[in-house]
Amino acid sequence: MMHDTKARSQATPTIGVFDSGFGGLTVLRSLIHHMPQARYAFIGDTARLPYGSKSRRTIARYAAQSAQFLVQEQGAEFLVIACNTASALALDAIKEAVPTIPVLGVIEPGAEAARAASHTGDVLVIATDATVQSHAYLAACKQRGLRTIEKAGPLLVPLVEEGWIDHPVTREVIEIYLNELRSEAGEHGFRADTLVLGCTHYPLLRSAFEHAVRPGVTVIDSAESTAQAAVKLFNGRVGSALARPSATKPKQTEVRCFATDSVEKFERLGSRFLGRPVGKVTLVDLGG
Ligand code: DGL
Repeated sequence: MMHDTKARSQATPTIGVFDSGFGGLTVLRSLIHHMPQARYAFIGDTARLPYGSKSRRTIARYAAQSAQFLVQEQGAEFLVIACNTASALALDAIKEAVPTIPVLGVIEPGAEAARAASHTGDVLVIATDATVQSHAYLAACKQRGLRTIEKAGPLLVPLVEEGWIDHPVTREVIEIYLNELRSEAGEHGFRADTLVLGCTHYPLLRSAFEHAVRPGVTVIDSAESTAQAAVKLFNGRVGSALARPSATKPKQTEVRCFATDSVEKFERLGSRFLGRPVGKVTLVDLGG
């Protein structure tokens, strides 16, 4: 069903939020906190997860389909790409797919948060393979005068999707990845004081990361900084409900969730990411 977006923007705007799975619900949670008066439509492309091991071309095709679903079927007037992998490799493709819609990714806000947190200017990033290969964080951090070492953590997304949040295997895997990252940082003479969780699945493992890093290292994820960037970007665009103070409480915010597979798992585990029940999740087919 197509929505009359003009009519809706005069009422309550819909923000579309997209991830390859349900990790992006951590970003949605921050968006709701900052803009409870908006409506939200979230899609997790769970049928085609993980994106992090796929090529740019495939990621771009998948991400563009999800973006079009949110805009054309759900009436989204703004998009937040709550997936580092899609933000790193497919932001331009998404913008081309929905040319009239403001689109915000998570990499720039994540790099901005790193800049604000780091005193030494040396930053570590852990992310998916594809995000690391793209060097999107390296580039965004360099623009802000930061030195960066990136490391892929391909085992972490499946562990999170499995719900192994507070699990000895997950803690061990984190320890191994961080040791590798530290030893590379040591070889390059880094004095890293900031670790960026460059994947929207990792905030669920935040406390495990915080236990595993050396004292004095700040662990950051881009959810909060993305929400702040979204407020600035979206509020400026419309004289709409978003710009007005609202009495809406985050618990009352309308959230519609969609997934391309694993609806039951999404409903079961999604509330941990969102910090409230995700409600009924609708299965959608985005094609091949
Ligand atoms: N949520 C994705 C990200 O932020 C990772 C999951 C995947 O590999 O699809 O990079």
